[in-house]
Parts: sequence; structure tokens; C-alpha cells
Amino acid sequence: MDTLAEINLKGFVEEQIDPTLDLFDEIEKLKKEKNAVVLAHYYQEPDIQDIADYIGDSLGLSQQAAKTDADIIVFAGVHFMAETAKILSPQKKVLLPDLKAGCSLADSCPPHLFRKFKENYPDHLVITYVNCTAELKALSDIVCTSSNAVAIVESLPKDQKIIFGPDKNLGAYVAKKTGRDLVLWNGACMVHEIFSMEKITKLKERHPNAKLLAHPECEDVILKMADYIGSTTGLLKYATKSSEKEFIVATESGIIHQMQKENPDKVFIPAPPNNNCACNDCPHMKRNTLEKLYLCMKNELPEITVPAEIIKRAVKPIERMLEISAQLGL
Ligand code: 13P
Ligand code: SF4
Repeated sequence: MDTLAEINLKGFVEEQIDPTLDLFDEIEKLKKEKNAVVLAHYYQEPDIQDIADYIGDSLGLSQQAAKTDADIIVFAGVHFMAETAKILSPQKKVLLPDLKAGCSLADSCPPHLFRKFKENYPDHLVITYVNCTAELKALSDIVCTSSNAVAIVESLPKDQKIIFGPDKNLGAYVAKKTGRDLVLWNGACMVHEIFSMEKITKLKERHPNAKLLAHPECEDVILKMADYIGSTTGLLKYATKSSEKEFIVATESGIIHQMQKENPDKVFIPAPPNNNCACNDCPHMKRNTLEKLYLCMKNELPEITVPAEIIKRAVKPIERMLEISAQLGL
């Protein structure tokens, strides 16, 4: 590193950028120079999605992080995703453009409280949604994502008692789909809890042919109305395969960029939230910008670190998820 750059209190490198620079070219140059790979979630802003080497849902991103031969993984996503990449590839440098890109769902499950909760169910297996801290993963038996949660629960014996956390909405959806009685942690995502059933109903009256696509982090009232429920990759694939032309999208708005790119002749309408704001942006995901991505690659900061002792325990439930997913062809 040829710089004395520091991360400011806001969680990212702050530095004047020459306004004549083409950041797309600069990022491409840095990728080659440093043998770096940019992994981006679908909720990132369009420019970041366009410069990424791989765009995907949480499962796809973990699979990429586990198999990449790059020296540096630049994670354009949120903190728990970059942590997962570090746990899977501890020998690599993992960068996150903004260290404060957190997650309300991960925050809703503090590990010290979850440890106590778990003690009440000593004969239960713990499945945690990947949207949680590394410390929480270290307290788990199997990690899952929205694209494999149902399959992972179904892969276990029918009489296996299970705690599922931290997302109560995904947990309730999995319980319903599998017919299992899961013990749920009471956590939720601020973006997916905000959709309004009344406003979606009115929108459907104006667009009678539109199909409602919903992420399983949404509340049950929204999921009951949905024509298709799936992870971000699932929603994208469904919209692309479908012969329908109009879709109402009940998840973070960033996914619409890829939906529109892959389906220029189709119309994608963001599902309206329960307040006066017209946007479904995740404030954590949207902390990353192209400028922060460039500065993070240039300065190799902020870097994600996870204590070795946590890595040792957290890697097992993540690897178990990847193994089950591979067996099931997911
Ligand atoms: P998926 O990409 O796995 O669908 O997860 C959505 C999400 O909320 C990520 O933060
Ligand atoms: Fe967390 Fe929700 Fe944002 Fe995903 S969309 S990062 S679950 S707050």
C-alpha cells in the first residue's frame, strides 16, 4: 500500500478524487493491478452493479467468495456479507467500501441475548439466516440464505427440533412451507417490513395483469398476496422466464436495475411502502457509492477482520450450508 489513508469516523476513506478521472476505468485498472474481484449484491446502486465481476444473492455471493482465486475480495454489500467472505477465505484481504454499511436484521439479534435464548432450548438445532453477525454464526449449527432455507430445513429429520433466527418473517415462511414447528427469534428487516398491503392492493387494481414478486423477508400479509416468493436471484429468474409483462416488486429497489437490464420490454414497479416515501432503498446497502468503492480499492481500506476464534466456529455452519446446497444442486 502506498498511502497513509485513514478511515474517517463515518466509516470510509475520505479523499479528494480528481474530477477528470473515469472511475469505471480506474476501478478496472485497480482490479487488474491488485488481482481484486468485486462482488456486488443486487441491492447496490446501478453503477456498482455494472462494474462488479459478479452480482448475486447472498448464497451466490458466498459461493463466489469461497471459490475465488483473487487476492483481494471487494465486497459491495453490507458488513455481514463481507464478514462471511472473510470467514470463508481468511487468507484473503476483504474490503468493504463503507464499514458502517450494516443491517437492521443483523442488529435485531445481539449475540449475548441469542446465547441466553438458545439456552432455553438445549435439544434444538440452531439455523441462522446469513443476515447476522459472525459471532451469531459462531453460535449456530447451520447457516442458510433465503434461497436455501426451505431446502435446508427439509434436509433434516422431521422430528429434529429447530431454532430459526434472526428473521421472524423468513422463519414463519419456512415453517409454513415445511410444516415444521420452528422456534423463532423476533427479528426483522426494516426494508421488507415496510410494504403496505392497502397500497399494493390499489396498485394491483390499476395494473390488473401485474404479478406480485415478494422476498420472504416480507410480512405474511404481503406474502399471501404474492404470485411468486423467492430470494433476489429467484425473483430475477422468475421475472425473466415469465411471459407476463408487468411486475410489482416487493423487495429492495436495487434489484430492479438487473430486472430491467435483462428484460427491457417488461415493466417493473417498486411495491409501495407504508409511509410517504416512494423508495424501498436499504439505507445500509446504499451507503456504498462508486466513489467509496474506488477509494477503498485504491487504499485497500476499510478492511474486514474477524477474530480467528470466531472464524474457527463460524466457518462450520457456513460450510455446512454450502455442502447441503451443493448436494441439492442449489
Ligand atoms: P438475498 O439476496 O439472499 O435474497 O437476500 C436479501 C437481503 O436482504 C440481503 O440483505
Ligand atoms: Fe439488512 Fe434488510 Fe438491508 Fe438486507 S435489505 S441489508 S436485510 S436491512
